[in-house]
Amino acid sequence: MNCEFTVNGKIIAAEVSSTLLLADFLRDSAKLTGTHIGCDTSQCGCCVVHVDGRSMKSCATFAWQVNGANIVTIEGLADGEELHPMQAAFRKCHALQCGYCTPGMIMTAVDMVNRLGQVSEPEVIREQLEGNICRCTGYHNIVRAIQVGAAAMHGVEITAPEHETGKGQPA
Ligand code: FES
Ligand code: FES
Repeated sequence: MNCEFTVNGKIIAAEVSSTLLLADFLRDSAKLTGTHIGCDTSQCGCCVVHVDGRSMKSCATFAWQVNGANIVTIEGLADGEELHPMQAAFRKCHALQCGYCTPGMIMTAVDMVNRLGQVSEPEVIREQLEGNICRCTGYHNIVRAIQVGAAAMHGVEITAPEHETGKGQPA
C-alpha cells in the first residue's frame, strides 16, 4: 500500500505491507531508532509516539492505519539544539537509569501535559503512566521530572520536589 506520512515535519512516502508495524517503519525505514520496542505486546510504552497530537503505542499500530498522519517521535521534540522542556526536566531530575523506557516516558509525559495542563499531583501522574513500564523501576525521579517538565511547559520554573508531595519550590 502506498502511504505518505509527515514524520517530525518531513514528508515520507513509502510502500508498506499490510502487516508492517508503525514502530518497525519508524525504526527500520525512517531510521528513527529513538522509538524503542520493549515488549511487542502493547504493555511497556517504550514505543510511544505522537500521531496527530496524541500519544500512541507504535508497536500496536500498523503503518497503513496512520496513512496521512502527522507523526512526532522523540527525535522531533527538541527545537534544534534546544531540548524540549520535558526532555530538559528528565535530564535535570536524573529521571533515567538505563534509558530504555525514556523516549516513551517523555512522549507520554508531553501528551499528558497537553491534555491535562500543568500536572503536579503524583497520584495523577502515576495513574497516567500506567501504560509505561520502567524496568529499572526509576519511577520516583520520573514523576519528579514530569512535575518539573509540566511546569516548564507552562513557563514556570520550579525545583524538583524532594518528595512527590507538592508542587515544588520556585527556582
Ligand atoms: Fe510497544 Fe512495549 S513495545 S508497548
Ligand atoms: Fe531503565 Fe526505565 S530507565 S527502563
